[in-house]
Amino acid sequence: MKSNALRFIATAAILSVPFSVMAAQNDVSFKTDVAPVIHDYCLNCHMPGGKGFEKSGLDMRSYQSLMKGTRFGSVIKPGDSFTSIFIQVVEGRVHASIKMPYGMNGGLSKENIAILKKWVEQGAKDN
Ligand code: HEC
Repeated sequence: MKSNALRFIATAAILSVPFSVMAAQNDVSFKTDVAPVIHDYCLNCHMPGGKGFEKSGLDMRSYQSLMKGTRFGSVIKPGDSFTSIFIQVVEGRVHASIKMPYGMNGGLSKENIAILKKWVEQGAKDN
């Protein structure tokens, strides 16, 4: 009994180290992970003069303007990618006619969608 308990504690201790290191490496950063995707696939239309901005009011030039959302309000609910419109539109969950990037065949890659999703899940931080 006693040795089983000890073995359990030892195993848990060994496992917990790599798990915490992995968690740290999995942190998504707005600056290094999310902003480049926005820059390549969204910004063209979502800044003053672009048709996404003109139509919705969503300006993606900065973290602050992204978090402000559209004329109708916020598109990101930190921690909740399912109800965040920002994620719904790239997954095509709202309506095919407003799948983002607008008019792009196939849409974002799975990898890029996963980055945006994870960032929202982790609290949509300005990191
Ligand atoms: C080719 C131009 C274009 C690109 C590129 C583009 N958008 Fe849009 N976006 C639009 C237009 C136009 C609208 C307004 C759609 C409407 O209301 O019919 C819009 C609206 C939105 C909205 C608001 C939707 C709503 O219902 O409130 C979000 C969120 C959004 N875009 C996110 C993105 C994201 C994220 C990207 C990049 C992955 C992106 N867009 C790329 C043109 C674009």
